[in-house]
Amino acid sequence: MSDEHDPPRMEKIVSLCKRRGFIFQSSEIYGGLNGAWDYGPLGVELKRNVKNYWWQVLVHERDDVVGMDGSILTHPAVLKASGHVEGFSDPMIDCRTCKAHLRADQLVEKKGVKQCPHCGGKDLTEVRQFNLMFETHLGATADESSIAYLRPETAQSIFVQFKNVLEVSRKKLPFGIAQIGKAFRNEINPRNFTFRSREFEQMELEYFCRAEQGMELLEYWKEERLKFYENIGIPRDKLHVMTVPDDERAFYSKGTYDIEYSFPFGRQELEGVAYRTDYDLSQHQKASAKSLEYFDEETKQRFVPHVVEPSAGVDRTVLALICEAYSEDEAPDEKGKMETRVVLRFHPRMAPVKCGIFPLLKNNPQLVAKAKGIVDLLRPHMFVFYDESGAIGRRYRRQDEIGTPFAVTVDFETLGEKDASLRDTVTLRDRDSMKQERAAIQDLPAILRERIE
Ligand code: GLY
Repeated sequence: MSDEHDPPRMEKIVSLCKRRGFIFQSSEIYGGLNGAWDYGPLGVELKRNVKNYWWQVLVHERDDVVGMDGSILTHPAVLKASGHVEGFSDPMIDCRTCKAHLRADQLVEKKGVKQCPHCGGKDLTEVRQFNLMFETHLGATADESSIAYLRPETAQSIFVQFKNVLEVSRKKLPFGIAQIGKAFRNEINPRNFTFRSREFEQMELEYFCRAEQGMELLEYWKEERLKFYENIGIPRDKLHVMTVPDDERAFYSKGTYDIEYSFPFGRQELEGVAYRTDYDLSQHQKASAKSLEYFDEETKQRFVPHVVEPSAGVDRTVLALICEAYSEDEAPDEKGKMETRVVLRFHPRMAPVKCGIFPLLKNNPQLVAKAKGIVDLLRPHMFVFYDESGAIGRRYRRQDEIGTPFAVTVDFETLGEKDASLRDTVTLRDRDSMKQERAAIQDLPAILRERIE
């Protein structure tokens, strides 16, 4: 395992993402919008697969978690009570030479003197706090009374709706509320492709419990989340668990783990698992003067629950999947000459397209009709892609490059022309081994579903 930075690999990944329609720069035709990205036809499929699997594992497969979907526009009182208006900031420094705005921890130090990482300038301003929240105004009046914020985390709407969700779901502690949605932070320096963006998506679970369960549940959720990453194709030896030291932890947290991944630009956080105590609910209870207590039927006690929060970045997970999947190997071209093959080795569960479907020749109506019949057969089960253009080897390469784990080719044997026993069978090709097997068309849904799920 290596944590070495690999800029050439990252460049290839960024270029593939654009070339094949995973990720584009936002507003590209106008020069781009810094810190914002658009997902193309394949990127959106990959992203949905990540979110759907998270929801499946954390909500649908559990009895103790329910979901919600809160608004992005947030009442200022919520973010005052949570501490974001006062304290959600990064220390900022300006370089007076090149006018760059810099995060204080990004300065470079040479011979004990701090310098601007862009121009080497040493004429730097004092540190000042820069609040990362995006402020906006509701309605036609743009004054103090109309301020609202784009939420900086999805968590706060969960805390604010805690009582409503508890009442309607009739859950007993411990139980969780899960949410997937956009969040916004006005990062001083967005960087590393989609890794640090100003607009991003979170998958957050707030798991409410009794105070005495907090530390144990912190361990439990760390392990659950590690399993999740392994199940989507990120091996354990590329994941690192960092225990956030006391002086770097949010003041209200009694314990935080960062789950990190070795990206080609270094080891970076995918997810934080934090024991947030009863801080958030207590703050909202105080500020709103509404009870956010839980009533324990057995002990007849009333108390503010504590909470453990696994908070994952969707975009970071997508980027980790692409970085992990990217590989190059050698494969023969049409004439048998070895050439470099670019392959995204996605776990089949995450792959945007599950199966490519090809008629050997596009001008043979029988082959085309059979292939289109297979599209209809598989479509209710998975996302497939029909391709009839170009040599078959090129069609395989195109699917390899976007990570499609399986490809089905309809050939003359499918029509039973040479051997009647092969009628209605196809070639099923595996992306990673490039091995081909013969399978009956009617068995394809079961075979593929078994290999994907
Ligand atoms: N809710 C934790 C975070 O957004 O980082």
